[in-house]
Amino acid sequence: MSLIQISNDVAHIEAVPLADIAARFGTPCYVYSRRALTAAFEAYRAALAGRSARICYAVKANSNLAILNVFAKLGAGFDIVSGGELARVIAADGDPGKIVFSGVGKSREEMRQALTAGIYCFNIESASELEHLNTLAGEMGKRAPIALRVNPDVDPKTHPYISTGLKSAKFGVPFETAVELYRRAHDLPHLEIRGIACHIGSQLLDPQPAADAAAKVIGLVDRLGVEGIQFAHIDLGGGMGIRYRDEAALPTADYLAPMLDQLKGRTEMLLVEPGRSLVGNAGLLLTRVEILKHGEEKNFAVVDAAMNDLARPALYDAFHEIRKVGAGKTAGAEALRYEIVGPICESGDFLGHDRELALAEGDLLAILSAGAYGMAMSSNYNTRPRVAEVMVDDTTPHLIRRRETVAELFAGEALLP
Ligand code: LLP
Repeated sequence: MSLIQISNDVAHIEAVPLADIAARFGTPCYVYSRRALTAAFEAYRAALAGRSARICYAVKANSNLAILNVFAKLGAGFDIVSGGELARVIAADGDPGKIVFSGVGKSREEMRQALTAGIYCFNIESASELEHLNTLAGEMGKRAPIALRVNPDVDPKTHPYISTGLKSAKFGVPFETAVELYRRAHDLPHLEIRGIACHIGSQLLDPQPAADAAAKVIGLVDRLGVEGIQFAHIDLGGGMGIRYRDEAALPTADYLAPMLDQLKGRTEMLLVEPGRSLVGNAGLLLTRVEILKHGEEKNFAVVDAAMNDLARPALYDAFHEIRKVGAGKTAGAEALRYEIVGPICESGDFLGHDRELALAEGDLLAILSAGAYGMAMSSNYNTRPRVAEVMVDDTTPHLIRRRETVAELFAGEALLP
């Protein structure tokens, strides 16, 4: 179901007109639908029904506390990559006992915080990290629960910046050395082996690479089982792709089916770490047209959102559908091909190329599929305050993050004496 619903010619999210949100909270602002978040989570739950499984939301996709809390209430676990994300999950009432901690460079302090919080599992990405964690756990009088993130060397067939499972990637430990490292982990006194993990990339549309990775991981589990190394869980990461434009993104159950086939008859708990597929299409960025500029070669619509608010187009040349919200002042205006750009001083500051729209200054635009890696990757470039975030719950729009003020942006800075 599309996030924006038109009723009586008015664009709504759930029962709230988008224009009302803009009037009340200002633009730019991110708008999310609680119903859409819930539906995406329930699609995972339904697809995994009948087997032992845990959905660990990848916090990096969107770490707003209200979003984490919606998932926590639905029973989610969380995949975190920093002490900051750990603090967010705890602040949002998430269960630390359902947290997995991924990342190639966890600091000693972050490991300490996670051990103190009692997280479910550390996903270890190097031999060094294994030793560091063992030493630290020993000092703290604890046993650290671990999984090794193995690199299955399968090609996820996605954008090179977001593929992580190839041999050349910095992520995970090489498949060939995993056996040896598990033996080492088994011998270390302050570690407890809980599972095995892999994550091959993001925005995957073809389900086969994930199924291939699962098969490889299972092979390793069986091989280690012969040596008496047991696994309570298998963590197959995130990565399911969504529809931004016209991609053939599969329904959750269909995407997971080939992977689940590989796991048939197995008793280990399955962990998944979806980020984008839980939040991406549950959010949009609402922005207003400030200036229309008709150049010799191109027409520009300068909007109040920019690359600092949504970095994906500039960073990955990503496509986000852009729709006009309501008729605005443009009833009858001529449709032209526009470059949709922000006010930032960079040629890379665009949100969409060559979009056919009938626009007038003051019109509202919705930039779709912006719930994942939108706000989470925003910055203060050009000293632009980060935007407000609103979550719609049926008839009520809730402000879940107020707009930053300029004063806040330099509050931590100091002049020389
Ligand atoms: N687990 C691990 C270990 C990850 O590194 C990631 C994402 C996920 C889970 C969640 O993957 P997802 O289900 O969201 O595909 N900024 C990029 C995406 C970076 C993904 C990084 N890792 C973008 O905007 O496309």
